[in-house]
Amino acid sequence: MFDHPDFDHHEQVVFVADPAAGLRAIIAVHDTTLGPGLGGCRIRRYDSDDAALTDVLRLSRGMTFKAALAALPLGGGKSVILADAETEKTEAMMRAMGQAVERLGGRYIAAEDVGATPADMDAMAVETSHVSGLSTGVGDPAPWTAKGVFLCLNAVVEHILGRSDLKGLRVAVKGLGAVGGRLAMLLSEAGAELIVADLDPARAAQFAADTGATQVATSEIAHQAADVYAPCALGGEFDATTIPKLGAQIICGAANNQLAADADADRLSAAGHIYCPDYLVNAGGLISVSRTAIGMSDARAEAKLAALPETLKMLLDRTGPNGGHLAIAADAIVRERLAAARGGA
Ligand code: NAI
Repeated sequence: MFDHPDFDHHEQVVFVADPAAGLRAIIAVHDTTLGPGLGGCRIRRYDSDDAALTDVLRLSRGMTFKAALAALPLGGGKSVILADAETEKTEAMMRAMGQAVERLGGRYIAAEDVGATPADMDAMAVETSHVSGLSTGVGDPAPWTAKGVFLCLNAVVEHILGRSDLKGLRVAVKGLGAVGGRLAMLLSEAGAELIVADLDPARAAQFAADTGATQVATSEIAHQAADVYAPCALGGEFDATTIPKLGAQIICGAANNQLAADADADRLSAAGHIYCPDYLVNAGGLISVSRTAIGMSDARAEAKLAALPETLKMLLDRTGPNGGHLAIAADAIVRERLAAARGGA
């Protein structure tokens, strides 16, 4: 465990088994310096237990960075349930997961993630109060996430391309789900020229028919000659093989963990791409969930959302007029904030 390549001084990693409920899960609490570790509960089958461990270690660390950069009083945590969300998930399983979360005494607050629904959070809430995203709460975080990405995209386009609006801007959007679909609609309404792709071709075709966007194959979307590429599907997309084929200078999208490894931020920067750190631009969902998880007022949450493009502008200012290595600048701010909170700076 301690030699695992993605182990980054996580405070606590809990392996959960409840055979009667069919539950096998891992909860990772990365860092609680700034507050309890809030992060989604992902429910999916993995190719191996190690793949699940890798996912939860990376995702929980990402939540620490996301909360710290958005200046939220939250730490980083995440959980994975190793089960098929369509065929194996049961209420008993979710209640057993709620018990496991309860045993952590509030160090981890669960929320929805891939494969989980508000009804699943309701089932967990029977056993623990350390869960958000219930069906009766603030609702789907996706519109907040999409809005945050949209605001950041406007900010980076203004800084790098000197454009004050998006009319005629070519944007390639991968994934038209809860976030990508809304982001694409906001972009379309702002006059952007869209190129879209989704694993579900009918979804992309419908969007193209509704908005006049151009549909391409999922394998081609990242290669499109565009001003901006917005990855809004799954993560791990940018590596030594994919980066040389990217068609857009600016990358600004919602997907979590877009880099296959931290070093790929260096590759993107060296290849001249302006990579807007995913954990900054997609923090809108976390901000939305904070309203129920830690009682943040709507007004404060709106202000936090509006601050995301301001933080991006600050990073752009720090890294020069042509946009430098934003990921390094963002990571440095997070480390400064954590060190200051620990009394080490
Ligand atoms: P979703 O499941 O609603 O949508 C994902 C979409 O991507 C689906 O339409 C799916 O068909 C498509 N897709 C999957 N693989 C694809 C591929 N290889 N090529 C093209 N399309 C593909 O998920 P959601 O909620 O929209 O999340 C999208 C991304 O944003 C995920 O990485 C998620 O972790 C991240 N995110 C979501 C937040 C939220 O509030 N929902 C918050 C922060 C990050």
